[in-house]
Amino acid sequence: MDLVTARQLTGRDGSDGAAALAAAAAEAEPDSLGAASRLRRSFAPDLAAAALTQVGLRRRAVTKFGDRAGELWFTPAGLEQATRPAVAAWRAERIAGLGARTVADLGCGIGADSLAFAAAGLGVRPVERDPVTALFAEQNLGVPVVVGDAEQAELAEDWYAFCDPARRDGSGRVWNVDQFTPSWDFATGLLARPAGACLKLGPALPHRMIPDGVAAIWVSDGGDVVEVSLWSGPGITPGLGAVRLAEGRVEELWADSRRAEVGAPAAYVYEPDGAAIRCGGLGELAARHGLSALAPEIAYLTGPEPVESPWLIRFRVLEDLPWKEKLVRQWVRDHRIGTLEIKKRGIDVDPAALRRRLKPAGSERATILLTPTPAGARCLVVERESDRIWHST
Ligand SMILES: C[S@@+](CC[C@H](N)C(=O)[O-])C[C@H]1O[C@@H](n2cnc3c(N)ncnc32)[C@H](O)[C@@H]1O
Repeated sequence: MDLVTARQLTGRDGSDGAAALAAAAAEAEPDSLGAASRLRRSFAPDLAAAALTQVGLRRRAVTKFGDRAGELWFTPAGLEQATRPAVAAWRAERIAGLGARTVADLGCGIGADSLAFAAAGLGVRPVERDPVTALFAEQNLGVPVVVGDAEQAELAEDWYAFCDPARRDGSGRVWNVDQFTPSWDFATGLLARPAGACLKLGPALPHRMIPDGVAAIWVSDGGDVVEVSLWSGPGITPGLGAVRLAEGRVEELWADSRRAEVGAPAAYVYEPDGAAIRCGGLGELAARHGLSALAPEIAYLTGPEPVESPWLIRFRVLEDLPWKEKLVRQWVRDHRIGTLEIKKRGIDVDPAALRRRLKPAGSERATILLTPTPAGARCLVVERESDRIWHST
């Protein structure tokens, strides 16, 4: 969408964009050809298309933003890249807790983080180089958004800096810092600001890329590891940590240099939250609860007693079989297992292909967990006893 159409749609140029939006909102299928031709009878083609796209995006955004989606403005990329509200709220509260008063949001997108900064009582100074995205951010935030290159933005000394760089190829998976925009050098340079900074990055950030002297916090939201953020400035203790957000609760875990001792499968096996794994927190979790790892570098913990922790999903071990496909197929047949959940770590097997080969058939269900152990590769038949539990740890 071009800026002229975006200004019409938002009514910023005096057009009645609201009428086009209302007509689009009355369409059951805004993506359909029928909807497009109906709207074009009353509105210019560009405005009609933009209104239908906006309505489609708002409907999609309900998953992320709930009821609020209907009053926000999105671009397709802006919606995709927007921080989840629970994560943005956690970050904003943390920044406010550090004593910051004003945050410069350097590449603000449609403003999901800045919305949370404002809700936490922080002043916001958003910058966005894409003019349409900036216009929508301005609509969303109700404050001016500087349209331009964040790398050239003038920042007051006492502003806290926040940067959530986009990746030019749009993929969140590849760690090629040349793809970052604003650039990796600019973003990491912000961490040296005396007032402090926070960078939001993809959770696959290799530890070797974490600059010295910062805190790196992996965030899991409802069980999904969604980001790692790097923090600097007053009040920040360098280290690697994890935060788990769910059901309105916030749990923190800090990794130390301990490693979990390796031990044979005991009565219970635990699957740690991905954020705890990524930050290297398994040694801390194992020490806290008297657990062992099933193998070095394998993120399953085990112990003889049931432990409750928000960081751990608990499984009771029902059987401990050698990992031999033929033997497991026989077990599946003997127990008339028709529904089979296969979990695995450190064993080179494709669970979907394995499930087909095991030919589950019957009325029973089971979960198996394939893992290296001190006694070699094992297939543990397990029963999920708990999802992560919100008790103090
Ligand atoms: C990942 S998005 C930010 C999303 C935002 N945190 C949110 O939750 O809504 C990154 C944004 O930075 C903008 N951007 C990229 N390079 C920039 C630059 N050099 N100056 C200003 N904005 C930039 C992109 O257009 C994109 O909208």
